[in-house]
Amino acid sequence: MNILLIGSGGREHALAYKIAQSKRLNKLYIATGNAGTSEVGENIALDVENHQKVIEFCKDKNIGLVIVGPEVPLVAGIADDLREANILTFGPSKKASELEGSKIFTKKLCAEMDIPTAYYAEFSTQQPALEYVREQGAPIVIKADGLAAGKGVVVALSLEQAEQAIIDCFSGAFGAAGEKLIIEEFLDGEEVSIFAISDGENFITLASAQDHKRVFDGDKGPNTGGMGAYSPAPLVDDALLAKIERQIIAPTILGMKQRGTPFSGVLFAGLMIKDNQPKLIEHNVRFGDPECQTLMMRLKSDLLDLLEASARGDISNIKPQWHEQAALCVVMAANGYPSSYQKGTIISGLENIDDENVKIFHAGTKKQGAEIISNGGRVLNITAMGDSVKQAQTTAYQAIKKINWQDGFYRTDIGYKAILSEQNN
Ligand code: AMP
Ligand code: GLY
Repeated sequence: MNILLIGSGGREHALAYKIAQSKRLNKLYIATGNAGTSEVGENIALDVENHQKVIEFCKDKNIGLVIVGPEVPLVAGIADDLREANILTFGPSKKASELEGSKIFTKKLCAEMDIPTAYYAEFSTQQPALEYVREQGAPIVIKADGLAAGKGVVVALSLEQAEQAIIDCFSGAFGAAGEKLIIEEFLDGEEVSIFAISDGENFITLASAQDHKRVFDGDKGPNTGGMGAYSPAPLVDDALLAKIERQIIAPTILGMKQRGTPFSGVLFAGLMIKDNQPKLIEHNVRFGDPECQTLMMRLKSDLLDLLEASARGDISNIKPQWHEQAALCVVMAANGYPSSYQKGTIISGLENIDDENVKIFHAGTKKQGAEIISNGGRVLNITAMGDSVKQAQTTAYQAIKKINWQDGFYRTDIGYKAILSEQNN
């Protein structure tokens, strides 16, 4: 089968790496990909905002399945347009992508389906929002309603910060995504990411994972897309997973079906766990990045079987198998990320990493002649397997030492909570 994978981050390199292992793959194209994906498939300079062009490409190359990595094309309705053109597609429809595209939509679904989540209020003008935070006090969380590339959420620890976040949002800091906002109760606890593949009716949860959102060691500094991740998340035992499935995943899938907008694709529930009780922080309609990198290292079964079954609308015969080992991913980012940073800086030494337990997934990279240069904020994802999270961590950091990139940085403590819990058991 010929595959078109849409996206260009570390998540897509990890998906491409796994797809390339499938015996059923004939040819893999990635639009637009990065320096890493070009090693496992062919990068295509396709304008994915132009759905007609994507359809023409698929017809021309006899694409059997399109896999959509990021949320932006999904929220723009690419899956609907491809399906309309009879092209098999993994990823939710535009309406089902509202689960990520509008925080207010998801909050309403939670209320309707009794899904545990932070209490909230919704605002479309500044003054009532300011009055509300003054009544509520800090800590409190301000969220732009729409897609804001991970930047639309402010966890305000002081009232001043909350007021500033509201003013910024209504002054257009997030464009149309910030025309409405929600103000949400601050949730305390530990975060985990749970991924479920659905065919619109049934779902299969994948291995658990945890990521580190803050830019600096000790989970300090501003939020990022994710500075590292590991799988499995020791916090999620079978009983907690069953509760998450029952209280959060199942009612989401059922609620979407009842609305006549069934969700097929991968549902990524970001959860806060406290006293063994999960609460939904947010839904996403795609794999997490860098959580996906750890999942793809641990997945034993054929990824294409899983994604194709979801796209075809019947996952009942699929049971993914996992390696027992843990996986851990450390993100190398350009100096300055998540604020402004330079692109086009040279990375070397990748060829010195020769360990079968390590995989370097590329994110913001591209080839320039024989050289690899940076091309984004998050640039490389050093991912390692090990018998424990600790072992995977040691292996990943040993590999990083061999990389020569003056213009990048990384956190030195990825996995620390899991390692503490391993030591206590
Ligand atoms: P989101 O984009 O909704 O995932 O939010 C980004 C990050 O902000 C989350 O991963 C959490 O770390 C944090 N966050 C979001 N909502 C809350 C909340 N209600 N309470 C505490 N932290 C939150
Ligand atoms: N790592 C979190 C995300 O992909 O949104």
